[in-house]
Amino acid sequence: VSASGQAPGVAPATSAAPAAGAELTVLFGSQTGNAEELAQQLATRAADKGVSAKVVDMADYKPRQLKKEQYLALLTSTHGEGDPPDSALDFYEFLNGKKAPKLDGLRYSVLSLGDSSYEHFCKTGQDFDQQLSSLGATALAERVDCDVDYDELADDWINRVLETMASEAGASQPAAANTVTAEQTPVASLYNRKNPYTATILTNQLLSGRGSDKEVRHIELSLEDSGLTYKPGDAVGVYPEHNPALVDELLNTLGFEGDASVTADDQEVTLQEALAFYREITVLTPPLMKHWAELVSDDALSALVADNTELKAWTEGRDLVDLVRAWPVPQLTPQTLVNLLRKLPPRLYSISSSQIAVEDEVHITVAAVRYCSHDRDREGVASGWLCDRMDEGSEVRMYIDPNKKFALPDDSTPAIMIGPGTGVAPFRAFLQEREEREAKGDNWLFFGDRRFRSDFLYQSEWLAWRRDGLLTRLDVAFSRDQAEKRYVQHSLKEKGAEVWAWIQRGASLYVCGDADRMAPDVHQALVDIASEHGGLTPEQAEEYLRQLNRDKRYLRDVY
Ligand code: 2AM
Repeated sequence: VSASGQAPGVAPATSAAPAAGAELTVLFGSQTGNAEELAQQLATRAADKGVSAKVVDMADYKPRQLKKEQYLALLTSTHGEGDPPDSALDFYEFLNGKKAPKLDGLRYSVLSLGDSSYEHFCKTGQDFDQQLSSLGATALAERVDCDVDYDELADDWINRVLETMASEAGASQPAAANTVTAEQTPVASLYNRKNPYTATILTNQLLSGRGSDKEVRHIELSLEDSGLTYKPGDAVGVYPEHNPALVDELLNTLGFEGDASVTADDQEVTLQEALAFYREITVLTPPLMKHWAELVSDDALSALVADNTELKAWTEGRDLVDLVRAWPVPQLTPQTLVNLLRKLPPRLYSISSSQIAVEDEVHITVAAVRYCSHDRDREGVASGWLCDRMDEGSEVRMYIDPNKKFALPDDSTPAIMIGPGTGVAPFRAFLQEREEREAKGDNWLFFGDRRFRSDFLYQSEWLAWRRDGLLTRLDVAFSRDQAEKRYVQHSLKEKGAEVWAWIQRGASLYVCGDADRMAPDVHQALVDIASEHGGLTPEQAEEYLRQLNRDKRYLRDVY
């Protein structure tokens, strides 16, 4: 029986149960804000149920507090090769370390966010779950591992956590005062990820020059009466449409008619619409492959899905058309197909404008992803759509994805910004913002790309800011203008003494762009600089950078 109707102070039903009104601690580890947003949702819904809850960022959590907790809901994302978000690292290591306490009295549950196209899907959440359990804590509700379309599962998990908690611990008096640590976004806008705004494209122009190997476009969207607000460092989420030619190719391969009627996300749509807007058709995730193998009895496919390494090698650079060609499913129906596929997730682009400078516009910088693999030409779903098929006047369903972990420092703090390629986007927003605010802090930009002549994105803007002094320093590394490759980390190291001096006088470091190679190489360059110019051992230098990250002075937005 739920105790949520109990009057304040009424003793709980059994003596073993904790006192009525026990508090739920909601701990989140978030890189881009999704886990944080869900943590806030949990606290808000807890208040409705009369459960008092407080939301805490793992980065701010005192691990010694853990022994005193009775109820814990832990939400975390997973990154790269199964790594925790930066802000969760300390707590993660604490739980795995010698100082981790016995947690016999603790009731907990974990929500794990991830992307099932990665091998180490939801690993961080699984690790936390396993760790808490091995320290003696017991599960309040079973862990969920959420894929990119996490809403329903998360919603269901929140209900389960709150119901169990309310029935075990009893509800306190109307818990309207649930503490929400981070300030709620002051947006009064109706629009968000679940209810996107339809923005009109004002400008869609080529940014890269003639002779470039890459196509990079500058796109301006109108936010007009949306009420949407954003800060430098935030991203735009867009809901793309698959290339119609790809959808047709898939329909032909399947032998299905595009106008067949199906249900997708509780809506009646045509199969063509389902494949164009609602379902992902370009990524073959391990769960999809395993389901597919259950429908096709074929030894080769069964062997493939049983071996993670082989599976990864086969699915990389292939899409649903390739899968249907290789292993057609006997008696597949349009509806079965739609049910097998995951939702088409929105794509995020770092915002390259400041709202105080451009008011009711938002700008993004998009590089077209195009490549050929297994004899078919392919393109990035959203970049192909934005670059090839969205002209001025076209409409884009979008929302703002706030990123408090990549915010500008206060006006007087010097900023060192490292952003090769389209990684430079947020720094245009930073400088626009600092120009409008007449911020006094020095600014140093490290930009890199292939060639000076064709790839110096926003060149005239940087040069103008360099001339008028907003940009204190500008260093560039063009990788293909000379025989030897030259990257941003090479310029950084050449300027190591000054970079170190800037850090010593309080500069914040920002890195944006490629996560696989650039970010680790830049990190190594920073370690080298701290060793060479700060006299630290490599271990001390690593710890120094870790501390800078805790102090929110070494921030990364890498993908
Ligand atoms: P490349 O393509 O000539 O190798 C933006 O994409 C720029 O980042 C390009 O000049 C690209 O160089 C460069 N780049 C590639 N790998 C990098 C790395 N590991 N670190 C920094 N920059 C890199």
